[in-house]
Amino acid sequence: MKIAVLAGDGIGPEIVAQALKVLRALAKDGLKIELEEAPFGGAGFDAHGDPLPESTLKLAQQADAVLCGAVGGPQYDALPRPQRPEQGILRIRKELGLFANLRPAMLYPELVGVSSLKPEVVSGLDIMIIRELTGDIYFGEPRGRRDNARGEREGYDTMRYSEPEIRRIVEVGFQTALKRNKKLCSVDKENVLETSRLWREVANDVGTKYPQVALSHMYVDNAAMQLVRNPKQFDVIVTGNMFGDILSDEASMLTGSIGMLPSASLDANGKGLYEPIHGSAPDIAGKNVANPLATILSSAMMLRYTFNKDEWAYRVEAAVKSVLAQGYRTADIHEAGTQKVGTAEMGDAVVAEI
Ligand code: IPM
Ligand code: MG
Repeated sequence: MKIAVLAGDGIGPEIVAQALKVLRALAKDGLKIELEEAPFGGAGFDAHGDPLPESTLKLAQQADAVLCGAVGGPQYDALPRPQRPEQGILRIRKELGLFANLRPAMLYPELVGVSSLKPEVVSGLDIMIIRELTGDIYFGEPRGRRDNARGEREGYDTMRYSEPEIRRIVEVGFQTALKRNKKLCSVDKENVLETSRLWREVANDVGTKYPQVALSHMYVDNAAMQLVRNPKQFDVIVTGNMFGDILSDEASMLTGSIGMLPSASLDANGKGLYEPIHGSAPDIAGKNVANPLATILSSAMMLRYTFNKDEWAYRVEAAVKSVLAQGYRTADIHEAGTQKVGTAEMGDAVVAEI
């Protein structure tokens, strides 16, 4: 199993290093993997003048799976858009056809005290957000800048979804719900947007094939509110690219820290890119304080979703649980009575458990 490793920028290299330690520990136990690193994001721009260098894309295409850290940093903010690190991640999603983004938000019982919500609201929380990842206003054309008829500057983007694009992501939603609690909530803005009207029609149509799954619909503003009012009402949420971007960050805070949330971005054949949902956090880069657990848990998702190695994924997840139970905490999840550790020490603790 060949894994392309794209550490990226900011805290990316530090957190990816911890996931690699974990994968190498599994390799010692017989997991057959081959790792190859390549520059990506700002690092890609520094090395080759491109956030997704040709050689990096080739490696990602040849590999069975891709493990990513995070991209971006203030030194790249002034670059023209095509050279910005974020374009690297958007282009690799598009090039590899990674349309299905799975973002589980699960609360570990040990972290109930660090969630910003009351324990009774979040304890036992386990939801799966499925975000469409290669369409919507992120990629819709036309987009650009122009002067309008009054000579004022104007920016514009296009929200756009085709029926097949909606159908395939909603299918993923139903399939996922079937394996869980059989509840699917489709989130849209059907009261305002044409895109959402089509989305809802198609979701209902796909739903006729899945009578075992309870399908509901919710406007995105209400969903944002319900996520902090009563998040446990959700099992699986399926939504478009931009709504999913926003709701998944919101959901992460229910679990205590965005530093805990992994993600999988899958194509139609289960090939995937795995990354934490958080960003490159340039303010804490290189300080050994970032939480590597989201990246370590992303590698567990890789074992499960691309390599179909459930037992190995479970070993990683169990190791993370046990490290938390022992009281190890990085700064973002630290509270009184627990032991504060750095990025590398957290990685070592997980490896020790494995
Ligand atoms: C995410 C990030 C990206 C996105 C950025 C870095 C382009 O916020 O993966 O959620 O908006 O998709
Ligand atoms: Mg985001």
